[in-house]
Amino acid sequence: MVRGIPNHLASLKAEGKKPSPTTSPEDASMHNGIFHEYNTTAPKSSSIHELFSLKHRTAIVSGAGAGIGFEVARALAEAGANVAIWYHSNKDAIDKAAAIEKEFGVKARAYQVDVTSASAVKDAIEAQVSEFNNRLDIFVANAGIPWTQGRMIDGELSHYHNVVSTDLDSVFYCARAAGEVWRRQYTASASKTLQNYSGGSFVATASMSGHIANIPQLQSAYNAAKAGVIHLVRSLAVEWVKFARANSVSPGYMNTEISNFIPPETKAIWRGKIPMGREGEPGELKGAYLYLASDASSYTTGTDIRADGGYTAV
Ligand SMILES: NC(=O)c1ccc[n+]([C@@H]2O[C@H](COP(=O)([O-])OP(=O)(O)OC[C@H]3O[C@@H](n4cnc5c(N)ncnc54)[C@H](OP(=O)(O)O)[C@@H]3O)[C@@H](O)[C@H]2O)c1
Repeated sequence: MVRGIPNHLASLKAEGKKPSPTTSPEDASMHNGIFHEYNTTAPKSSSIHELFSLKHRTAIVSGAGAGIGFEVARALAEAGANVAIWYHSNKDAIDKAAAIEKEFGVKARAYQVDVTSASAVKDAIEAQVSEFNNRLDIFVANAGIPWTQGRMIDGELSHYHNVVSTDLDSVFYCARAAGEVWRRQYTASASKTLQNYSGGSFVATASMSGHIANIPQLQSAYNAAKAGVIHLVRSLAVEWVKFARANSVSPGYMNTEISNFIPPETKAIWRGKIPMGREGEPGELKGAYLYLASDASSYTTGTDIRADGGYTAV
């Protein structure tokens, strides 16, 4: 923002051009394939405490009833955000949200949302924005399921569709609905009135499987979906540069329920492929998500943070 003028209008004004009534922030970030100078501005504060603070902000985290998503939701609340926790089947999320609210003095509520339904996702985001101080700052698209049927030639096509729908399509749906809110907040006077607002931050949980092909278990569909997440987010970073940042986190093998179906002997093979020699604990990812969610990463967009105990370094 330049003296209260949204950036896309300011850059057009600087070029002596009148903005067309239909110019969107997406179209206004560049001209003939060249980005405008100063599409964004740096945060005013350089205090580490303020850069990491999420006070007054609203965050939604999907797949947050347990595992990585729960730890992320808890971390964002600890940093001051009000959090909407999405679950699918795990009703423990309701009590966990109440515990977060009590522990950190923020608003925290749990909602059942099927992320494979674009309309359910959109309705939930719009309703929760209204319920959480009429704003959205952070969306963490974390829900996901594993491929459990080994060889792709022998696995069921219905399983493929389920994996891609939950692990990739859902990220697109969440991004689409959250992005619409952020674009609205950018263009409307909302960006002037929302306290401590600095644009949207979209963070998707990808995986090291989006970078490498896992062995010995075979899971091509999951790997392809996660590679798709990484590139979707990179593309959104460019498309949304005026009004939101978009990044992903690629965990390695983490100690959560998603891999309960894997036999212990396979997990022993995994450990031999990880320089750190162990699975990660979900809480060990909190810093990566908080960094990407907050103004501490104000110059970071379109990136993927690998947190994999060194797996992909070998
Ligand atoms: N653990 C790992 O080794 C690892 C490594 C790399 C990436 N990841 C990714 O990390 C993310 C979180 O997984 P996790 O390890 O924390 O395992 P998790 O505890 O099983 O979490 C997966 C979450 O996804 C939710 N979910 C599944 N289908 C859904 C649907 N249709 N609608 C809404 N939510 C749905 C589940 O909700 P309910 O339980 O409420 O049904 C669950 O909370 C996933 O995207 C996963 O692919 C995990």
